[in-house]
Order: sequence, then C-alpha cells, then structure tokens
Amino acid sequence: MSRAGTLALLGGTPVRTAPWPAWPPVNDRIRAAARSALDSGRWAISGPVRGGPSLQQQFAKAWAAFNGVRHAVPVSSGSSALLLAMEALGVGPGDEVIVPVWTWVASASTVLRAGAVPVLADVSPDNFCLTSASIAAAITPRTRAVIGVHLHQSMMEMAPILDLVRARGLWLIEDCAQAHGALYAGRRAGSFGHVGCFSFQQTKPLTSGEGGAVITDDADLAERIFALHADGRRLARPDPVTGLELAEGPGPMGANHAMTEMQAAILLAQMEDSALDRRLSHTAQNAAWLDGALAKLGPLHALVQPAALERRTVFEYIIALEPWVTAHVPSARIGVALSAELGAPWYTSDPPLHVSGLYRPETRPRFAGRAGPARRPGDFPVAEDYSARTLVCHHSVLSADRAAMTDIVNAFDKVLNQLGDLEAAAGSAA
Ligand SMILES: Cc1ncc(COP(=O)(O)O)c(C=O)c1O
Repeated sequence: MSRAGTLALLGGTPVRTAPWPAWPPVNDRIRAAARSALDSGRWAISGPVRGGPSLQQQFAKAWAAFNGVRHAVPVSSGSSALLLAMEALGVGPGDEVIVPVWTWVASASTVLRAGAVPVLADVSPDNFCLTSASIAAAITPRTRAVIGVHLHQSMMEMAPILDLVRARGLWLIEDCAQAHGALYAGRRAGSFGHVGCFSFQQTKPLTSGEGGAVITDDADLAERIFALHADGRRLARPDPVTGLELAEGPGPMGANHAMTEMQAAILLAQMEDSALDRRLSHTAQNAAWLDGALAKLGPLHALVQPAALERRTVFEYIIALEPWVTAHVPSARIGVALSAELGAPWYTSDPPLHVSGLYRPETRPRFAGRAGPARRPGDFPVAEDYSARTLVCHHSVLSADRAAMTDIVNAFDKVLNQLGDLEAAAGSAA
C-alpha cells in the first residue's frame, strides 16, 4: 500500500492538513464589544449605572426575542440556570426530578444542589434524548419536574412529552445547554417548557467563556429567577447617591449567580446582524449533508431526528458505528485515527451518568441519601450501547466549507477500510 493509503496514525499522509475554523469565534466585533464594556466603568449588574441599560439587560431582551419568549435572565452558567429554575419553581427536598441518563453531569448534580433527588431515565435509540415513555416509566408520586435535555444535535420529541407533563402536573425544564436556536415546529428550543436553560460555556454554540441564561414566558417566574440570581434584589431606578439599580425586593432570598458586563457584551456581539443564526444554519446544513454521505459508507448510522425538528443545532456532531466495528476496534481508537487524518478531534461522548466518574453523589455529605436508586452497569441499555459506539466532533468543525465535509467522509472511509491495521497496531503496541 502507498504511504498515502497508510493511516496517518501509523505514519501515512493525513487526509487533511488545512486548518479548521477557530473556536471560540473571536473577531474584531467581539474584541471591540469587550473593550467597550471594559472601558464603560460598569463591569457588573451590581455596579453603578453608566448611561443606558446594562449590557446584561440588553442581552436579556435580545435573547428573549431570539427565542420568541417574553423574559430572559442572564446568569453565571448553565448550571446556575438549572439550579435557579428549580428553586424558582419550588422544586426541593422531598421531590424527585427525572433526568436523562445520557447528559452532562450538571443536569443531575444541580437537582442534588436544589435538595431534590435525580431519577435517571434511559434515552431514545433514535436521537439519544428522553422520550415520553421513558419519562412515564420513571414517574412516582414524588416526581415534581422533568429536566429534558436536547442533547448533541437533536431535540426531544416535544408533543408527547408536553402532553405527558401536562397530564401529570409536572414542571418541564428544558436543558438547552447544547441546543441554542434549534427550531421545532416553528418554535425555538427552550420555549416549550415552563423554563428553558442555556449554557454559554466556551464550547457552546453561543459562548462568553462561562455564562448562562434562563428563559420563560411567565413574568412572575422571571421575577423570582432574577431575584434568586442577584442576592434577592430586583431592578429599580438607580439610587441617586450610589447609582446602583439593584434594590432590595419583596422576592425570595437569593445568591449571586450573575454574569459580568463583559460576558454580555461578547454574547451580544455574536448575535449582531443575525450572525449566530447564520452560523447555526450553516452547521445544521453541513450536519444533514454529512448524515447522508457517511451513511453511504455502510457501517455508520446518523440520528433519526424528530419529524418536527426543522433545524437542529449542532453542539457535537454525533454518528453511530455498527456494533461489529466497535467489537473489532474500540470507538475511542477509531476516533484517534480519524483525528490524525483530519487534524481535528473526534472522540467518544461523555459516558452515561450511571457509569460516569463525574456523577458520584455519595462523595458529598450534603447529598447523602439522595443518590436515587442504585446505579449499575446494564441498567440503561440504550445509553450504554450507543455511548460505546458513537463518535462526536465539535460544532466548529462543521462551520467549515463543504470541501472540508468531504475530507471528513474520506477520512472515515480510509479508517473504516483499515480497521485490521488499526487493530494489529494496537495489538503490537500492547
Ligand atoms: C446538557 C448540559 N447541561 C448543563 C450544562 C452545564 O452548563 P455549565 O457548564 O455552563 O454550567 C452543560 C454544559 O456542558 C450541558 O452540556
């Protein structure tokens, strides 16, 4: 075999050496916005007013409008958003909250922080999100809420889930940390449940390094969330002496879950001139094209998306390998070989929570007795099966052009045709 045909991991020529789009997406507009926030003399919502409304209030307005809801509260992280949503809805001690077993640990650890018990439920083999059936099977008389996660690059099938939570009187909190701007039946992710929660951590499709937001149509709920994120304070006319616009309010006692003005500036700059929406559309189109092109290679399966999902948001593009492939060579090793071909990381998704080293309530005394039912390998077969035979890449890779997508297909083709070499090399290295 020629050197060009040899796997890059084994010393051959890689499929692609050209660079990929940079992430985070810094540009002159974002630099100028951050600079202007730095120079403004107001770095926090708890700082004195300088001229017009705070950048956080401007972002709140823009984010609510983008999502087609009435209210948004910017906060310090996606975890804060989830915690505040539960606290504002009155979820706490004695309550159970249903959480998908396949998600980032914060979807469940925030339930513990709210004082409630996370109850894990398996996901759909089609799109790796909760289903109405898996939620229904996990409901007990103590269930108060569902944290529905729109994972990787899909959304939950909303219609049956909305019917179920209405019929059973449960709160629905949409965890949209990975689904900014996804469109389902003409509405955005996060606008279906009682609240929608977003993360703006560095890897997310809209980012300020760290950060988050809660959205809702319910004015009272928005007010409670605002108070909870600002040490119990509400927005008021600036104090004539101090210039502060946060005043003691009649609402609940809170804590500090605020973001900074610099973060709000960076977020607003990414939304200007519909730049965010254009980027999300571009990655969604590339994802749909990749689904078709990769499936033609044979041993790869794309997600089966809900029919009403008009535009997915890609956080991580995910593709499943046939079980015989990973029986031969573990998915992580295939990811390493692909990464060497492409010069961009392809990796396995985080493991499901019941086997995750990050989800260990028993290591924190304050969570004692609230770990929920025992978690054992084998308990959540769908999540376990697919997490062992899927590969993901970051959405920034899909911001590249169509020629780059062809490189991805060629790299998969090359690696899948040389599984024997990969296996043999692993064997001789062992
Ligand atoms: C599904 C999901 N929920 C919640 C979070 C928590 O967000 P943050 O890291 O901003 O606290 C994340 C972040 O990775 C996430 O992916």
